[in-house]
Amino acid sequence: MSQNVESIRCAERESHLKTYTEFELFELGSWLSKPVPTVIKYTEGLKNKTSSTIRILDLGCGVGRNAIAIAKTLKGYNVNIECIDLLDFAIEKLLLNANKFSVEDKIIGAVSSIEEYDIKPNQYDMIVAVSTLEHVASKELFVRVLENIKSGLTHNGIACLVINSEVTEKDKATGKPMAPQFEVNYKTEELFDVLDKAFGDCDLLEKRVVEQKYQIPRGELVSDLKTSVVTCVFKKQ
Ligand SMILES: C[S@@+](CC[C@H](N)C(=O)[O-])C[C@H]1O[C@@H](n2cnc3c(N)ncnc32)[C@H](O)[C@@H]1O
Repeated sequence: MSQNVESIRCAERESHLKTYTEFELFELGSWLSKPVPTVIKYTEGLKNKTSSTIRILDLGCGVGRNAIAIAKTLKGYNVNIECIDLLDFAIEKLLLNANKFSVEDKIIGAVSSIEEYDIKPNQYDMIVAVSTLEHVASKELFVRVLENIKSGLTHNGIACLVINSEVTEKDKATGKPMAPQFEVNYKTEELFDVLDKAFGDCDLLEKRVVEQKYQIPRGELVSDLKTSVVTCVFKKQ
């Protein structure tokens, strides 16, 4: 692992530890307060599936903001949601949350990096990756992960991807630029090209960019972060 990736992961671990410790899932006050609406929209569509078990993979699941909401949406259905995250304390809290919201029969948690996780082909009705693919270790691995996601989908399977691009960070106190703590930081247009290439033979169901600003703890500092958040949803043919 390069020194840069190592130091980003260290900073990310600290900032996630703070958020996952200070805020409860689905409580107001942080980004954990509600799931991503696009994820829930496509989860609703899975209710029409005829397969006996609905299989879902949530890459970089955190404490289950989307996975637990998916499980709640599919209450009464036979569903298996595999959730992976790099951080042990995220998976621990995910499993506690699964119990808290009575969906523990639907959630499987594993500590793993996305790049090392063995995504088996033709397995999943939906693969979700929200604000996490930009943290794989390199652009080369990013492309490989996209290929694995596509291959992991069943026929008509859905990839629901939310990815930060063109991220800039500044020290809130001084306005001084800081290195963005993202292993992969594509220009937005370049990211669209990479996604087009990987999912070119899939149906594009949604494609949009939303400009966002927020503050994020970076060690002793607070960073003013600007990002172009790309949402793309693909359906495998
Ligand atoms: C911004 S959080 C988003 C969590 C969740 N997807 C959500 O929307 O609530 C990013 C998560 O991705 C995880 N993560 C970052 N890089 C990862 C990697 N290479 N492999 C697996 N998980 C990773 C982090 O530990 C963190 O929990």
